[in-house]
Amino acid sequence: MTSQFPQARPRRLRRSPELRGLFQETEFTLNDLVLPIFVEEEIDDFVPITSMPGVQRIPEKKLASEIERYARAGIKSVMTFGVSHHLDASGSDTWKERGLVSRMSSIIKDAVPEMIVMSDTCFCEYTDHGHCGVMHGAHVDNDATLVNLGKQAVAAARAGADVIAPSAAMDGQVQAIRRALDDAGFTHIPIMAYSTKFASALYGPFREAGGSALKGDRKSYQMNPMNRREAVRESLLDEQEGADALMVKPAGAYLDIIRDIREASRLPVAAYQVSGEYAMIKFGAQAGAIDEDRVVRETLGSIKRAGADLIFTYFAMDLALAGI
Ligand code: PBG
Ligand code: ZN
Repeated sequence: MTSQFPQARPRRLRRSPELRGLFQETEFTLNDLVLPIFVEEEIDDFVPITSMPGVQRIPEKKLASEIERYARAGIKSVMTFGVSHHLDASGSDTWKERGLVSRMSSIIKDAVPEMIVMSDTCFCEYTDHGHCGVMHGAHVDNDATLVNLGKQAVAAARAGADVIAPSAAMDGQVQAIRRALDDAGFTHIPIMAYSTKFASALYGPFREAGGSALKGDRKSYQMNPMNRREAVRESLLDEQEGADALMVKPAGAYLDIIRDIREASRLPVAAYQVSGEYAMIKFGAQAGAIDEDRVVRETLGSIKRAGADLIFTYFAMDLALAGI
């Protein structure tokens, strides 16, 4: 091969910050970021999550003022996770008209009507066993869980949720939720499917954040991290079931999967930078090993470059406060 040098000198476009900015290919703004939040009922004060420095459980009674603070900083969307004090075998609090799932959406929409509320739709924070559905012996009963997912989605939509985001990893969950929403008159409410969700060790800190009761693992319903073909299949199945947007979770260790799904579908693709990815950056920075701000921007930029349109990240508020 003949060299293109000295005609080709890529450094010509890197000489100044202005040139570098002009030729930058990938960017993210606050329009692309969703802040996941943890809301606990029946407590008075914020509870720091030790494995996620800087993240706290929000007392339900301070949710409205907290959302106003996010909105002032420029946050456009949040994903709600409840920390429930009402656990049972099925997670029935999730579909109660005055249950925590519904209250989170109504409080947020009352406080800041334009804040986009994505309602995480699952049961693991509301079941006494910590699994993402109804148990049948040692296994999660897929089809019995579908019925309950439909009920929870309708309850959230009634309370004002803008987007339903099922994360239970049950087969057929998108179809079941779409039908339930449509039957209840919510044909206009989109489903952001956690369509390719891996059984990842990177969810570790989230289990503390959500106060998970889980013993064991979710490997019989979440995906094997080693499977690339199946990862694409899972997302395409959700598209066929009626998903409006797809998601890959976690994000940083699965950039190849984000790219595969971007190329296999025309739907918007989201990626979730999960609790363990957050913790690695925070603790690495606290130890003085890496520059937090730069690593945050590099990782989020990489997720966008891989093909994500939207990113769920616990760093969203830091970036908003920095003016992005
Ligand atoms: C479960 C759920 C998980 C996360 C959100 N919802 C994973 C799990 O516990 O298996 C993880 C989010 C994170 O780690 O930031 N429905
Ligand atoms: Zn779950």
